[in-house]
Amino acid sequence: MEVVIVADPEAGGTLVGQAIVDLVARRPDAVLGLATGSSPVVVYRDLARRRAAGEVSFAGVRAFLLDEYAGLTPEHPRSYRRFIAEELERHVDFRPGAVRGPDAVSADVPAGCAAYEAAIAAAGGVDLQLLGIGTDGHIGFNEPGSSLASRTRIKTLTDRTRRDNARFFPSFDDVPRHVVTQGVGTILEARHLVLLAFGAAKADAVARAVEGPVTAMVPGSALQLHPHVSVVVDEPAAACLALAPYYRETWAHKPPWQGL
Ligand code: F6R
Repeated sequence: MEVVIVADPEAGGTLVGQAIVDLVARRPDAVLGLATGSSPVVVYRDLARRRAAGEVSFAGVRAFLLDEYAGLTPEHPRSYRRFIAEELERHVDFRPGAVRGPDAVSADVPAGCAAYEAAIAAAGGVDLQLLGIGTDGHIGFNEPGSSLASRTRIKTLTDRTRRDNARFFPSFDDVPRHVVTQGVGTILEARHLVLLAFGAAKADAVARAVEGPVTAMVPGSALQLHPHVSVVVDEPAAACLALAPYYRETWAHKPPWQGL
């Protein structure tokens, strides 16, 4: 696992945006895994800038969302599918149908989840998966206690996560209780995991995920089981990392050709 401590979220967005542009240059039909929420927005803004500058085309790229609120249609203004349409899709050139999210309105939820897993597999798996982390250590919407081998399924959000996400809804009571999320096992199959975390509120969760024991109580700690993980954090989010000086030293002396 590589931890990169950046000066500010925008620097993180530029770094990860460059890694995505490099991936798409190598593999124009790359498969991206997209996270929603605040953390990846700097990456999406960077990609929009690079698309406008003609640095990258997403015409051959496909993408899969990590999760969706149960009961929200893709068109719903608070759905994650709509969030990605607004924050990324409308600024770049994905082909129609190239971006998919889990079916959160299916009459048969398990069948919808199985179909989503099959679609990811049929696309050849995810090349680069963007992740945020919840203050309780969740990745995707795999709350503490989620099996580290879990697959796409319905989950119940903790009240803590519902409170954290209430800023996207008129009130706390409007935040759905249920979500459909890729499992920890699904996420771990992506070839490169890139976790973004900014701000002091994330410092404890980042330290527990990166340096704590691997435990279902901190789903983000499952990243320690993956061979290619980049954790991109700003100084406040890095505040509880015991090995921060080592991470800085490693990054400062990394050969420039290596990328993330
Ligand atoms: C969103 C997701 C969540 C968020 C996490 C952090 O698709 O899967 O795990 O990444 O809740 O959210 P922010 O970035 O809003 O702090």
